[in-house]
Amino acid sequence: MTNSKSAFDYGKTYRERALKTLGYGASSTPRGNQKPAPIVTKQGRNAHITDQTGVRFIDYALGYGPLILGHSPACVMDALTHELSLGLRTASIHEGEAELAELLCDTLPCAEISAFVNSGSEANHLALRIARAVTGRNQVIKFRGNYHGWLDSLSFGNDVSSDGPATLGQDTSAAQSLTLLDWGDAKGLAEAITTEHAAVILEPAAINGGCIAPPAGFLEEVRAITKSHGVILIFDEVITGFRLSLGGAQQTYGVTPDIAVIGKAMGAGVPISAVTGSAAAMEPLATGRLLHRGTFNGNPLCVAAAIACIKYLRNNKDWLYDQIDSMAEDLRSHLSLAAAEQGIVLSASRVGSALQVFVNTPQVQSLADTALVDRKATAAFAEELLIRNVQIIPRGLMYLSAAHNDADIEETKAAMTAAISAIK
Ligand SMILES: Cc1ncc(COP(=O)(O)O)c(C=O)c1O
Repeated sequence: MTNSKSAFDYGKTYRERALKTLGYGASSTPRGNQKPAPIVTKQGRNAHITDQTGVRFIDYALGYGPLILGHSPACVMDALTHELSLGLRTASIHEGEAELAELLCDTLPCAEISAFVNSGSEANHLALRIARAVTGRNQVIKFRGNYHGWLDSLSFGNDVSSDGPATLGQDTSAAQSLTLLDWGDAKGLAEAITTEHAAVILEPAAINGGCIAPPAGFLEEVRAITKSHGVILIFDEVITGFRLSLGGAQQTYGVTPDIAVIGKAMGAGVPISAVTGSAAAMEPLATGRLLHRGTFNGNPLCVAAAIACIKYLRNNKDWLYDQIDSMAEDLRSHLSLAAAEQGIVLSASRVGSALQVFVNTPQVQSLADTALVDRKATAAFAEELLIRNVQIIPRGLMYLSAAHNDADIEETKAAMTAAISAIK
């Protein structure tokens, strides 16, 4: 462990400079909130980042999820280098697009036709558009506590305790086409759904809310209810796609949606997301009846990285998913044990290789329980970890990657024990 002080001194000075010209001093608001100061990264290698002053951190933020192979996977770096040698070719037709769509077809249960965009937010927006086009209906059902990106169409009820907009400046009239329900409550869905609804969209596992697995039978019931009403079922697998298993949550839980939205881990860290689904559901886009536009969609660099990442995951799936899941479980059980030993109330939940810790909070069992989370204490714990050279997402979310090793896990456990002691 190196002394992290120089990194925070640098981060504070950098933030003062950045705030003068860069909105909130970062390109995404949550990144600007890192405490005690933002880590100004110089380099990422394997599961580590190094800041501008040479301090090394073990990274479990992993780019907020995408870096499933770590910061410098040779297969992805080589693919990017090769692709760069061919010139940028932005907005051109290239063979990688079809190859990537074929790979999705081979790996995801719902995938027959795919379309590429740059971010998960855009992909969810496109998925809704496709659902509206194919059903000829307008209303959408979303669940409280699920997050589907920053665009106005879905940014309501992101927190279980408020059905309101996620931020200032939103088009509040967009809420008129949304019905908000409680995630996990199939009975509530059966009562609310009508033939006015175009789509039901959900995170199949509630990772953003607190790493909560779907209650037994929930996804199956949602599948049956949507089918019987002719409503398109959209799984937002921006996090779970290629992370829970090669075939994502739909493979893990054995329920196939009409459309899935895939992002983050699919691109190993580059900006690419996909909307993929059955030929019937994707028909408006596949035939060109629905306009799918975007200068950077399916750009050769991002497509090459995604192909390399998916091929690597496919070739290594037999050990990779077991390894990252059991490392996450190791950390989860260590957190619970260390907290119990020190008399701290702490919730540690895991879905696959995603792990959520809430400090000063009894074990969270459902999304509804997250209304009681002590967010301040959780952020303080993340800060204490950062001081000890371990970076997690400040709201207590952590991801494992194929690049983490046993030494990282042991060092992290020691940091966790010390951080719990520090916040007592
Ligand atoms: C489940 C889910 N959907 C959509 C998004 C939005 O993706 P992006 O940030 O790439 O726009 C996120 C981002 O965290 C997410 O977690």
